[in-house]
Amino acid sequence: MSLPSTRKTLFGGDYNPEQWPEEVRAQDYKLFDAARIDTVTLGVFAWAQTQPAPDVLDFSVLDRIVEQATAQGRSICLATGTGAQPPWLARRFPEVTRTDFEGRRHRYGQRHNSCPSSPVFRRFSAEMAGRIAERYADNPAVIAWHIGNEYGGACYCELCAAGFRDWLRARYVTLDALNSAWYTTFWSHTFHDWDEIEPPSALTEHWRGPDHTAFQGITLDYLRFMSDAMLADFLDEKAAIRRHSPDTPVTTNFMGMYRPIDYHRWAPHLDFASWDNYPPEGAHPAWSALAHDLMRGLKGGEPFWLMEQTPSTTACRDFNPLKRPGVMGLWSWQAIAHGADAALFFQMRASRGACEKYHGAVIGHSGRDDTRVFQEVARLGAELEQLGSAALGARTPARVALLFDWDSWWALEISDGPSRLVRYQQVVLGYYRALWEAGVDVDVVPVTADLTGYQVVVAPALHMLKDDLAQRLEAVARRGGSVLATYLSGRVDENDNAFLMDVPGPLGPLMGVRIDEWDARGPEFVNRVRLRAGADDANPLTVESRLLFELVIPQGAETVGVYQDDFYADTPAVTRNAFGAGHGWYVAAGLDQAGVDWVVRQVLAAHDIASRHPDLPALETTLRVAPDGTRLLFLLNHGDDPIEVPATTAGVDLLTADRFEPGRPITLAPCGVRVLREDG
Ligand code: GLA
Ligand code: ZN
Repeated sequence: MSLPSTRKTLFGGDYNPEQWPEEVRAQDYKLFDAARIDTVTLGVFAWAQTQPAPDVLDFSVLDRIVEQATAQGRSICLATGTGAQPPWLARRFPEVTRTDFEGRRHRYGQRHNSCPSSPVFRRFSAEMAGRIAERYADNPAVIAWHIGNEYGGACYCELCAAGFRDWLRARYVTLDALNSAWYTTFWSHTFHDWDEIEPPSALTEHWRGPDHTAFQGITLDYLRFMSDAMLADFLDEKAAIRRHSPDTPVTTNFMGMYRPIDYHRWAPHLDFASWDNYPPEGAHPAWSALAHDLMRGLKGGEPFWLMEQTPSTTACRDFNPLKRPGVMGLWSWQAIAHGADAALFFQMRASRGACEKYHGAVIGHSGRDDTRVFQEVARLGAELEQLGSAALGARTPARVALLFDWDSWWALEISDGPSRLVRYQQVVLGYYRALWEAGVDVDVVPVTADLTGYQVVVAPALHMLKDDLAQRLEAVARRGGSVLATYLSGRVDENDNAFLMDVPGPLGPLMGVRIDEWDARGPEFVNRVRLRAGADDANPLTVESRLLFELVIPQGAETVGVYQDDFYADTPAVTRNAFGAGHGWYVAAGLDQAGVDWVVRQVLAAHDIASRHPDLPALETTLRVAPDGTRLLFLLNHGDDPIEVPATTAGVDLLTADRFEPGRPITLAPCGVRVLREDG
């Protein structure tokens, strides 16, 4: 099963009319009409209302809300409501609350607050999911089920400890295997009884927080276990839904690059992916692009839903800037350009009280339709009506893959040494950004993905190498492709134990290098790297590198860039190794963005992967190809100045009906968007 089938790219968002008197709702739907809002997500936090006591159900409010949305002709994404537990559940069954990293058993409060291993929580939440499905499955307006909300966090209670031990028994079967995987001879940790194993927390293996552990193997497995434990909760609810609703697709809202949950392990169990886009303050536009591509990669390139974004401002940060005029529209189109078939907001009407009363909403407290935000939402609604079904199901024909791996992320960031300053997301983002600036479509895929269709595979900070990945990367190069890897790759096996061979481990033959030493320095230390385009060293470019410097001893690779400073000046920092009909590129240092850009463009050039408009860093371009073969080229201006670019093919702008011809200029105002349907 895949996405809900719909008439057009969906538009709407989280709607919580249970917070408001009835009269307000009629006003809401008038405004929804004005903004062409066609989809509402209902019931995300409705549990305490639908089940006021363990044996009392009261669907009167939710019934009315669903009836009204149906009568108003909206599509409904209906939530199971289990992302926040009702107070009676915690009071009656204290086991449903979480125990935190410091070992404190929480009392009732907050949301996303249930112990994933609690049998009581699992029973009550699955029952609620089943009841919702039973009650509303026959309503054709319900096009998708939304389980829970933003799964995440962690629990360290006794039930989780027991669940962890069961998970470990299933994984290792014997304590000998576990002791060997966790390297427990170190610091006298040999376990002789499964019950001796404790969750890794501030009370056990950790100091200075969740990233500082004495035993990486234990902490890594707990991260995997916690992700699986929450997945089990999701699967309980999904099974309960399926008993009543065999055909309506199920999702849960992910959070893009969210470290605690391995979305690749979850992805096969979702019918379609969806996610909430709240970029960090000041993030480069490539940050969201990367997250969109990661989400698209979860289901093998199928479109996803943008389940949430704020129309204007968040509320939970220390300061919450407005999205400047045009930015909400631009970012919505960016999601669609990267594969979204729905653009939804959090939220439709602002809460009156509690911690999100100042969070942006399509409709504010005054209920006006003449605010800037409402007007921009309405404009986007009109544009999406114009787009209609054109982008539905359209896929991105990428020739470049970027590997994203939660295990490598975890292993890298819970490691003692070489550097706490090297952050996985930053390294990945640097390489992704270089591709983004080159205007190249990228699939962001798990390490288990089929790589046979790609000419270039970029593997930043691939710290952990599992299974046959090294061979599959070699196969890419052998048939003429390029593999680009970086420092701190190929270091550990699936248990986070070092390979007993030269660094970069099983990547050594492909990269044609050997690394015996590495230097990690503070953020202020710079080692310049001289990059050269050809063997004659014509047009060298000198860039800076920081944080991590591996000392490379070539084993067949040619030197492409050399360190300029310190005792390893004149030794290789970037190399290229001929392998089969292709190449393995190795970047041994934390190059600055200019350096990463340069290397990435060398690799792309070798495959004639043309940058669409290479020298316009504010211009984003992506291509989506619809199921009928129609090609949609998206152009987005993220800069403060207008952009003019020559059209590369003939076609029509779906939003303005402007014709364009090859070579003729296309103009984009700041925040401007063009959706060009190329002539077939
Ligand atoms: C998350 C949640 C929503 C809301 C928004 C606010 O994405 O899913 O319920 O709290 O954040 O930004
Ligand atoms: Zn627990």
